[in-house]
Amino acid sequence: MDSMFPEGFMWGGAVAANQCEGAWDVDGRGPSVDDHFTGGGYGKAREITVDIKPDVLYPNHDGIDFYHRYEEDIALFAEMGFNLFRMSIAWSRIFPNGDDAEPNEMGLSFYDRVFDCCRAHGIEPLVTLSHYEMPYSLVERYNGWESRELIDIFERYCATVFERYQDKVRYWLTFNEINCGTSRMGALFETSMIRGFEGPGSKVVVTPQQCYQALHHQFVASGRVVRLAHERYPQFKMGNMDCFILSYPATCDPADVFATQQEMNRMNWYCSDVQVRGAYPYYAKRYWAEHDVELDIRDGDMRDIADGKVDFYTFSYYMSATVGTHEDHKLTQGNMSFGGKNPYLEATDWGWQIDPLGLRIALNEIYARYEIPLMVVENGMGAFDEVEEDGSIHDPYRVAYLESHVKAMAEAVTDGVDLIGYTWWGPIDIVSAGTGEMRKRYGFIHVDKYDDGTGTYERRRKDSFFAYKKIIETNGACLYR
Ligand code: BG6
Repeated sequence: MDSMFPEGFMWGGAVAANQCEGAWDVDGRGPSVDDHFTGGGYGKAREITVDIKPDVLYPNHDGIDFYHRYEEDIALFAEMGFNLFRMSIAWSRIFPNGDDAEPNEMGLSFYDRVFDCCRAHGIEPLVTLSHYEMPYSLVERYNGWESRELIDIFERYCATVFERYQDKVRYWLTFNEINCGTSRMGALFETSMIRGFEGPGSKVVVTPQQCYQALHHQFVASGRVVRLAHERYPQFKMGNMDCFILSYPATCDPADVFATQQEMNRMNWYCSDVQVRGAYPYYAKRYWAEHDVELDIRDGDMRDIADGKVDFYTFSYYMSATVGTHEDHKLTQGNMSFGGKNPYLEATDWGWQIDPLGLRIALNEIYARYEIPLMVVENGMGAFDEVEEDGSIHDPYRVAYLESHVKAMAEAVTDGVDLIGYTWWGPIDIVSAGTGEMRKRYGFIHVDKYDDGTGTYERRRKDSFFAYKKIIETNGACLYR
């Protein structure tokens, strides 16, 4: 059978700088937000410390040492057949304090080397400008995106990297999972409003006013850099990035259906409507009023947003959730969000409900709404892996997850969805964003690194490595033979 994916479909994997690079204080890099997060676990929140304590383990400090091993890693990606690699730039490698007078040349040249290496292997980089981190100094001085000053500071950082990498990078995403900024967890990761969060079990309350104002600043910033890119670099393609949590009504009670619609509006459409359509959605005013949000929207903001419509829509998809209004409705956990349990679905060891058909539904819903090219830029499962005595790693659960989701995408493409690429989350084991764990492994490539900080960093191919290689080789057709 011929492939259901179009010729030229882009296959690859995705990582974020703070979760893989390590080398947190090397070559002039400044501390970033994630360098202040300790390790955590399932049901055990990561802590934030203002000072870096000598006796505490901060997993992002070393990551998987991608900084020194990127050549080996990219060669392994090429061996699987990647033609796309999503990664992020660590802002604090370029501007150690966020707004320094001059960029850090050593940081800039590191990404030159990474992009050159990708290109030498025929891999197109897809670069996230802000993936859950910013220079820590901006937190101290501005409390992250709570301050409007961040807009200009971010724009300058983006202008610097656009100019530098204009011949090496064509695909850019502004903010990773921007829609997570609507919640307290998102305030922590997405908008870095972490002042006061320090200390075990901090109960700091983040108000909707703070969240939505910070998001407004990000929308303006995103609009401005997308416009800048379009004006100066016509070869660039600019995308948004949403964490798509597909919600189903827990029952057919109209109250549940309505609550689900509201949740889809809040979680999935609010941000992407702004970034794709260039304006706040029609229901925003009522939502703000009901949540005591009064946005400070300055002259020119809506122009910046309108001018900064993205060229393609990207999203992460890991699971679906349910929304219910009845007392017996039970919750399950994601990393940035919580949703309702679904009795028809299995879940991973971390409680993420596995739903490949949901991906087909999501793709159809998103495409029906926006009709612009789509990319799935994160999809994967965190699991415990065991290394056999002979060094092999058998991970049939990951292969099953991969194949079922690729099949769902193939169906969506056949439905008519313009899907142009797919990047598996964590093609190589990296530090978990939510829990800081290494043992929550996503990779097709195993990394010998453990939660107590030990390990040789040796890379090993898991069974899933060969499964993905075959999928790429046949452009997905092997799943139908
Ligand atoms: C997404 C993030 O929310 O999920 C990634 O963009 C993250 O940074 C991924 O790693 C998986 O989540 P976790 O918490 O298992 O690492």
